[in-house]
Amino acid sequence: MCGIVGYLGTLEAMPVLFDLLKRLEYRGYDSAGIAIAGNSIRTSKTKGSVDDLVSVTPNVHGNIGIGHTRWATHGRPTSANAHPHCDDARGIAVVHNGIIENYTEIKERLIGRGYEFRSETDTEVLPHLFGEHYCGDLEASVREALSDVRGSYALAAICESEPDKIVVARKGSPLVLGVCGSDFFVASDVAGILKYTRDVIFVEDGEIGVITGDGIRLTTLDGTPVERDVETMDLDPEAAEMSGYEHFMLKEIFEQPAVIRETFSGRVSSGGIDLDLGMDLRDVERIVVLACGTSHNAGLFGRYAIERFSKIPVVVEVASEFRYMNPIIDDRDLVVAITQSGETADTLAAMREAGSRGCKKLGIVNVLGSGMTRECECLFTRAGPEIGVAATKSFTSQLAVLLLLSVALGSDRKVLSTASVNEFVYELRQLGGNIQRVLNDAPAIKECAALFTDADRFLFMGRGANYPIALEGALKLKEISYVPAEGFPAGELKHGPLALISEGVPVIAIATRDTVYDKLLGNIKEVEARGATVVGIASEGDTEITKYVNYVLRIPDTNPLIAPILSSVVLQLFAYYVAYHRGCEIDKPRNLAKSVTVE
Ligand code: F6R
Repeated sequence: MCGIVGYLGTLEAMPVLFDLLKRLEYRGYDSAGIAIAGNSIRTSKTKGSVDDLVSVTPNVHGNIGIGHTRWATHGRPTSANAHPHCDDARGIAVVHNGIIENYTEIKERLIGRGYEFRSETDTEVLPHLFGEHYCGDLEASVREALSDVRGSYALAAICESEPDKIVVARKGSPLVLGVCGSDFFVASDVAGILKYTRDVIFVEDGEIGVITGDGIRLTTLDGTPVERDVETMDLDPEAAEMSGYEHFMLKEIFEQPAVIRETFSGRVSSGGIDLDLGMDLRDVERIVVLACGTSHNAGLFGRYAIERFSKIPVVVEVASEFRYMNPIIDDRDLVVAITQSGETADTLAAMREAGSRGCKKLGIVNVLGSGMTRECECLFTRAGPEIGVAATKSFTSQLAVLLLLSVALGSDRKVLSTASVNEFVYELRQLGGNIQRVLNDAPAIKECAALFTDADRFLFMGRGANYPIALEGALKLKEISYVPAEGFPAGELKHGPLALISEGVPVIAIATRDTVYDKLLGNIKEVEARGATVVGIASEGDTEITKYVNYVLRIPDTNPLIAPILSSVVLQLFAYYVAYHRGCEIDKPRNLAKSVTVE
């Protein structure tokens, strides 16, 4: 969703701000703007892309500025609604992510005092509030004004009377500051500033930061000084670059062998699985998984793995529903939140709701320093920055972590013998290499996808642990190619989805060898008899499948709970190439944002 940037340092601010904004484009946006500090505040904003902004912005000199990419919530995507918003009387400009919940009452009060509003946004109350409290000290006015504000924010403000500083504040929306000698950066996430520096300070909820040429000073909202060391992120600056690939999504799909090795590093060895969890899970009687979207699909897969290996009952809930459910949760439950970004508003709120009922809490998270890491103990998926809006490497690394968790629980509870753990670990250690073998088949998958460029709908089916993979295959395809796609458990065919089958409708069947393989062949027969064109994803060496399907895409033969990771990679490539052949905007699909920081 919206992205905030800021720069203060030795360089011309304008090109740096444009570059930072381009690096946050993947978060999703529909308008953009910048403001540069000087004797006066000079702003430029427009509906459309950062490139559009560059083309309408005259050259402005100055070494300090802020910028924003806006994903419309309050008010349409227009130039007037784009940030920065300004209080002209005091010369204050503000960029903001989040939602000011009580903006209507603040706005009415300010209008009553003669303030004029130019936009439909909630954000515009902020510069006016700061202006109202301003007595020559921007930091003090931000501090006082924020005590009136309800809602969430990550914000950056500059003021023409103090053109040597940026004031930032955070509550509920991510905000990171980068440091590189005398140059300072503000961004919504590390990927935005990785090109410039790996040395960062994460601003925490309820903190205000003041950036000047002398450095960064943090305080809490009530003015108590905060000491925080600069952290050096262990990330390759290349991680946020396209590195010769046509799209981030393709690059991230191809990174998966390395990602899985990183996910397993120090956790999987010939001695077994060591997750180094700082909590005792021996008394846990039930696991409740909370997540949204792709992460929810990972959670559904996790249920199969955890129940199979540890015999602990699992329920999986959509976080946006769970938070309003009045859930029955207590201290015998382990609640696991799965989130790539660690910033999904519904997942964070659901975790807080569960936590208030006294359960144990664990996050499966990709982004270091994100909101979820402040809520609970976290197992990191270690997938590195994921820029493509469609989750790929973060999904497979979530599946991998869930497998590790389930084996660790099963082994602790003596449900799994040492011999079966060793056997599974042996197969897990082949996973990186097996993903590489699937990737080597990309040309065949591309060719197969080309046959369906003009399809007007797709069905994906699987059984058991392949059912969540069918859901994910359908989600990936619809997200980036805009073709309606439905995933379902193959046993449900006769209960409804069969009505969608007619001559030539593509059905993608995940038909890898497992205990329900024969049943799935029966389901393939049912769709084939009604004219479907079936693409089967099957294990190497399975000759039977060719009698049932029109096209076969292969994965290496492996354990039935590891095979879904390989099938996911096939489906990611399939979705990518269908979207590619259709000429879609793959990394930034319409209407979608990478991290959904509002409800
Ligand atoms: C789909 C996708 C989304 C996210 C969902 C949750 O490709 O990326 O469905 O999975 O918005 O996001 P996180 O995992 O960041 O909580």
